Amino acid sequence: MLPESLITAGGDEMAMDVIRLEDSKVVILDQTLLPTEVRYIECTEVEAIAEAIESLRIRGAPALGVAGAFALAMVALKNPKAPREALLQRLREARERIARTRPTAVNLSWAMDRVLRKAEAAGTAEAVVKEALWIYEENKEADRRMGEHGLQVIDDGDVVLTHCNAGALATAGYGSALGVIKASWKAGKGIKVVAGETRPLLQGARLSAFELVYEGIPVTVITDSTAAFAMKRLGIKKVVVGADRIAANGDTANKIGTYSVAISARAHGIPFYVAAPTSTIDPRIGSGEEIPIEFRKKEELVFFAGKRIVPDGAEVFNPAFDVTPAEYIAGIITEKGILRPPYRESIGALFP
Ligand code: MRU
Repeated sequence: MLPESLITAGGDEMAMDVIRLEDSKVVILDQTLLPTEVRYIECTEVEAIAEAIESLRIRGAPALGVAGAFALAMVALKNPKAPREALLQRLREARERIARTRPTAVNLSWAMDRVLRKAEAAGTAEAVVKEALWIYEENKEADRRMGEHGLQVIDDGDVVLTHCNAGALATAGYGSALGVIKASWKAGKGIKVVAGETRPLLQGARLSAFELVYEGIPVTVITDSTAAFAMKRLGIKKVVVGADRIAANGDTANKIGTYSVAISARAHGIPFYVAAPTSTIDPRIGSGEEIPIEFRKKEELVFFAGKRIVPDGAEVFNPAFDVTPAEYIAGIITEKGILRPPYRESIGALFP
């Protein structure tokens, strides 16, 4: 089932780029088609990148940050000789449009604001492109370091549950939660992974299983509602998930279903870890109550594989994310080390 081009290339990262900046276009791997088809789309307009983000062709908090940064870099590359104020105006308009796409992952606005600050300081297209590429490189380095720190919490023989996709596809690097899993596997720990399918868009079944099969790491896919029973029956020893935004008190927004997994883990005495770069921490936000949650269209639940499964007249509640209270989180694995409770203190020390 895996396309030939993927199987042949080896190395540490997925053999394909999740996103790249090419001349004055942004090339994006269309993740909605995985695992059966590898197709890239070429974006030459901000609107096309916004559409790709809204449709989840590119998704995952750190990868969204790179997409936002590359969108601004594309604007700069298309306006290499624009006077400073004209360039800034175009960049601000692009930022506004892209920021409206998905509200929960803080990496998106964080990355664009960083590029904008650089643009304001330097006033050149070149500085914009450089900063965007730098964010991309930093992402990859952060993933590597998270993998190294994560070795402390994964033991030989562990069965590890993950939810959604926090892998290379979600970070445009090595992965956060899946990066920890991959690093442990590469370090010779004989682990197995259980992946929640992640209704309704199936990032766990389609994307995490895809990455793990590619790496040769044993993976078992379950329905999301199987998580608690799987903890009993499949001998799950750790849970590791990614994050879209972490508040100053450690409350963590991640894919819908994560909160249920955390409660089940607590009931079974299983440590629940979050792996995320520090760019996912939003120290301006005091608690999870303030994290903006994205709600998606009801059709994602009403139709399954093109067939209506919910009768007309039924209401639908379709949040893309939930918030796991900090009290359920044993540690937050970042590129700077593992943060432990009380998170107000450990996060506060990182953002004085
Ligand atoms: O809706 P998605 O697919 O963008 O949601 C992604 C997640 O919830 C991931 O777990 C999170 O962004 C962390 S990615 C390293």
